[in-house]
Amino acid sequence: MTKKDLSITFLGVKFPNPFCLSASPVGNCYDMNESFVGRAIKESGIKREDLFVASKVWVQDASYEKCLHAFAKSLERLGVDYLDLYLVHWPLGDFLGAWKAMEELVDQGKIRAIGVSNFRAEDLDNLLAHCRIKPVLNQVECHPLFQQKAMHHYLDDHGILMEAWSPLGHGDANLLTHPLFVSLGEVHHKTPAQIILRWHYQEGILALPKSEHEERIAQNIDIFDFALSAEEMKEIRAIDTNHRLNHAFGVHQANLFFRGVVHHLAVEITEAFVFVEVGDRRIEGEGFNGEDTVLTPLFGDEGKVIIHRVRGGFEFNAFPGVSDLAGGKLP
Ligand SMILES: NC(=O)c1ccc[n+]([C@@H]2O[C@H](COP(=O)([O-])OP(=O)(O)OC[C@H]3O[C@@H](n4cnc5c(N)ncnc54)[C@H](OP(=O)(O)O)[C@@H]3O)[C@@H](O)[C@H]2O)c1
Repeated sequence: MTKKDLSITFLGVKFPNPFCLSASPVGNCYDMNESFVGRAIKESGIKREDLFVASKVWVQDASYEKCLHAFAKSLERLGVDYLDLYLVHWPLGDFLGAWKAMEELVDQGKIRAIGVSNFRAEDLDNLLAHCRIKPVLNQVECHPLFQQKAMHHYLDDHGILMEAWSPLGHGDANLLTHPLFVSLGEVHHKTPAQIILRWHYQEGILALPKSEHEERIAQNIDIFDFALSAEEMKEIRAIDTNHRLNHAFGVHQANLFFRGVVHHLAVEITEAFVFVEVGDRRIEGEGFNGEDTVLTPLFGDEGKVIIHRVRGGFEFNAFPGVSDLAGGKLP
């Protein structure tokens, strides 16, 4: 399939409208992702009001002024004059300032709804104490192996929707070939991915699956003609490990923004930003400006991760204590 075919599929020409478009202006994605979605919108000829277009304010733009600027650039790249949904990508930097800017953009009719991503309960408490407009949703990692039950309860109590990123575990075989989903798939004549997405739907969680394959995009939408029984839902709830998936480092959205999640430890890297999360601690790096970045102090005795920039890509090495990070290279 060519990129154009893909964009048309993506835009829902072959599927019923309205169709949700989620752009992400992350790292080097600014051009690739939003511009690509913008081109696809234009080429598809679909009316703007039949689309649901969402994007995010990235970490380095988390302040009042920068958010206004970043939002204007996002509209420009997407070729639209309003967004249906705009999210704060991480609770880092001056996200309260960014939120104020987003509230004003809602007042001006330039955004229809605003939300957050990767917020913990304490981050949401902070935001709720200061905001004028409540977030409509919190987009967090959520799939049957990491169900985020406590976060889900918190969000339910506050009338905020939970949206799942990596709802299919980023394609992890531990999830997609899990015997429970294979057998439930046989019972319902559906694929394991469809069973998983149906579970999200019945839990009241909005899933955001990603696929580059037309047949899978179609499959991932085709989950509304069957239902999991209460007993089946219970079985799925029981396989929660309460651990993020260890899918090592992987290229995220085919660009330089990548992510590693190991037990309670997550490393998120962009060209301009590094932060590490160990258990409850979330520590911002000194910035990733082209020099080697050594995160030793962040891990203390647990080990260290060194990230180098190499020929437009990144290389990382992990050392004892961070044993699950095997080291790797990005294009
Ligand atoms: N807010 C955040 O911090 C954050 C973090 C991570 C991700 N996200 C967003 O969440 C969305 C999804 O996350 P994700 O891409 O990490 O993971 P995902 O949707 O859980 O999994 C995507 C993987 O599953 C495969 N897949 C998709 N449908 C399938 C099917 N029906 N059967 C078998 N395999 C299937 C895809 O392969 P193919 O593409 O080859 O089909 C891809 O490898 C993305 O749009 C991303 O932007 C947000």
